[in-house]
Amino acid sequence: MREVAEALDAAGVEPHTPVLRQNDAEQIDRDTRIRTAGLADLVVTSPPYPGIHMLYHRWQVDGRKETDAPYWIAACNDGCGSAFYNFADRRRKAEDKYFEKAEASFAAIRRVMKPGAIMAQMIAFSEPDRQLRRYMGVMERAGFCEVRDNGARRIWRDVPGRRWHASFKGDLSSSREVVLIHEAQ
Ligand SMILES: C[S@@+](CC[C@H](N)C(=O)[O-])C[C@H]1O[C@@H](n2cnc3c(N)ncnc32)[C@H](O)[C@@H]1O
Repeated sequence: MREVAEALDAAGVEPHTPVLRQNDAEQIDRDTRIRTAGLADLVVTSPPYPGIHMLYHRWQVDGRKETDAPYWIAACNDGCGSAFYNFADRRRKAEDKYFEKAEASFAAIRRVMKPGAIMAQMIAFSEPDRQLRRYMGVMERAGFCEVRDNGARRIWRDVPGRRWHASFKGDLSSSREVVLIHEAQ
């Protein structure tokens, strides 16, 4: 952040006061604080991953025992459950629900972006060959067009520290993440 601040300063850009909000992405365009902040030039995100169920709301102690520690610290109850944090629950037929939620969320995010603004996201798939194509359809219907020079490859990386997907039955496709760059139409 210090480097960003120095770079902005060197470029003579006035710093903006950050606005921090906690929202369901699907509701983001209804948040008056966000709307009054003006349309965004850039969105950087990493949504839940299709077919990869993560316990975002639980912390592991000693790398094993799952706990409610974040809620103890915040002195509140979660009350939402894991489906809330993954766009869908663990069942196989939940995939349609995942894609519906992703489309509604990205359509709402699109409404708070300028035309031509950039959306950069990192995501992984349990079955990339099939799900990536479907995901790109979601992005298109939500109002985005992929930015990719003719023939240029997308950026893929191995997930550092593979422990987080260890429960995923050894399916190696989920250990690769891809960066997708889109432009708001
Ligand atoms: C792949 S993780 C990205 C985590 C992020 N890169 C970070 O460092 O915190 C997906 C995140 O999306 C959040 N999420 C799930 N459903 C959401 C929703 N409807 N709206 C906004 N965020 C959501 C999850 O809680 C989780 O933190």
